[in-house]
Amino acid sequence: MRIDYSPLHKRFFDPYKHILFMFDENTYNFHSNKIIALDLNESTKYNEYIIPCGESSKDFTMVEEICEFLSSNNFPRKDSCIIAVGGGVVGDLAGFIASIYMRGVDFIQVPTTLLAMVDSSIGGKNGVNNKHGKNLIGTIRQPNKIIIDISFLETLPMEELINGMAEIIKIAATSNCELWDIMFKHNLESVIQDEDLLLDIIKRSANTKMHIVEKDEFEKSEDIATSRMVLNYGHTIGHAIEKLTGERHGYCVAVGMVLEIDRTNILIRKLIISCLSKYGLPTDVDDSMCIEKLIDYIKCDKKGNRMITLDNIGSPRIVEYEDSDIYKLFKNNINYAIKDIIVLIGMPGIGKSTYGRYIANELHMKWIDTDDEILKVIDCSILDFIHKFGWDEFRKLEYKILCDVVQQDNVIISTGGGIIEYEKKS
Ligand SMILES: NC(=O)c1ccc[n+]([C@@H]2O[C@H](COP(=O)([O-])OP(=O)(O)OC[C@H]3O[C@@H](n4cnc5c(N)ncnc54)[C@H](O)[C@@H]3O)[C@@H](O)[C@H]2O)c1
Repeated sequence: MRIDYSPLHKRFFDPYKHILFMFDENTYNFHSNKIIALDLNESTKYNEYIIPCGESSKDFTMVEEICEFLSSNNFPRKDSCIIAVGGGVVGDLAGFIASIYMRGVDFIQVPTTLLAMVDSSIGGKNGVNNKHGKNLIGTIRQPNKIIIDISFLETLPMEELINGMAEIIKIAATSNCELWDIMFKHNLESVIQDEDLLLDIIKRSANTKMHIVEKDEFEKSEDIATSRMVLNYGHTIGHAIEKLTGERHGYCVAVGMVLEIDRTNILIRKLIISCLSKYGLPTDVDDSMCIEKLIDYIKCDKKGNRMITLDNIGSPRIVEYEDSDIYKLFKNNINYAIKDIIVLIGMPGIGKSTYGRYIANELHMKWIDTDDEILKVIDCSILDFIHKFGWDEFRKLEYKILCDVVQQDNVIISTGGGIIEYEKKS
């Protein structure tokens, strides 16, 4: 499998004598001129097939129609190629047809959405839906080539661009810490305004997915370090939300990424929320969503009671669960009664305040230093207070202040290491 990050060029198609370009209505209207401009060799015979936009095109009737079109146009097996010019819908459908027509013809992906560039065009999964669910019929068959030409993105609506950002953040968070740093440092605006940066991000993301797939093409590995399963992070809950709401894939995966992190792993959860928010992605289930129904859909997930969680950036983990645990597991992760509180405890001078302030700023949390709170209720310096009333009185006051501030939500609290001693004594 090869990815070319260059503008569409006739040299990619020179080896073929018969080509079917598949578009959807949008990609045809916006970009069919790019195919004409290629000025293909006279010896190359090509046809175009345009499908209606949207998920409903990924069905068997469409497969039959297109195979019929190919047969009636005498599309041969030899020297022929199907080329998908579109998002994941065109890519999945075209890939499936290329893998079954005449027992397989060559196939090239020309992804035109961000999601297709970094995700659906890579890895060889293709297929159509049936009434029982999405992507239930298909094959795994690698494309002969993937051509990523970012000029296609010029016409892509903003929501579709945001949709693709979710998959980039997913890959970065699980498998590419350098990409994570880039994504966390930037935001939607800065990325879309800088074409070189956008291309760099797409390359890093697509190459990372390709390397994961190369190690475990058929998702057989049980080891998280080599398993393709890592790509499912955010997808167990994400797919259930997608089924429940019909919302775009990436938007649902974004919420799944947040909810698939253990509720007590507040720091990582907050980091993911912060990064997704920078790219305009949702991070929360909608109040109107029926959680019981969501959990029912999770039970139908085809990944077989396995979910990927994230312990740290770059450290995904497989969680196995029984059907009987699902309610507890997800109810706990969606439980908003639990407060988000991070307490930094340590000796003087180790950076509790510096880091506390910095992390709070990055994660949109409130930062509280118990020393500052103490100064608000005493009329002297902390040292004078200790001289006058002793350490025990100081610890007592510090402990009382801490008990008060932990009543708040979404806070980072920096406090002295001695507080643990006080709690043990009292
Ligand atoms: N095979 C895989 O590994 C894999 C992975 C993830 C998702 N998928 C599949 O991908 C599909 C979703 O893909 P998608 O998000 O690309 O959706 P999509 O193909 O439906 O494209 C989204 C919308 O953008 C339009 N569009 C595409 N390119 C455009 C362009 N350059 N300018 C203007 N409009 C453009 C399309 O017409 C469509 O309306 C789903 O069916 C999903 O199951 C497959």
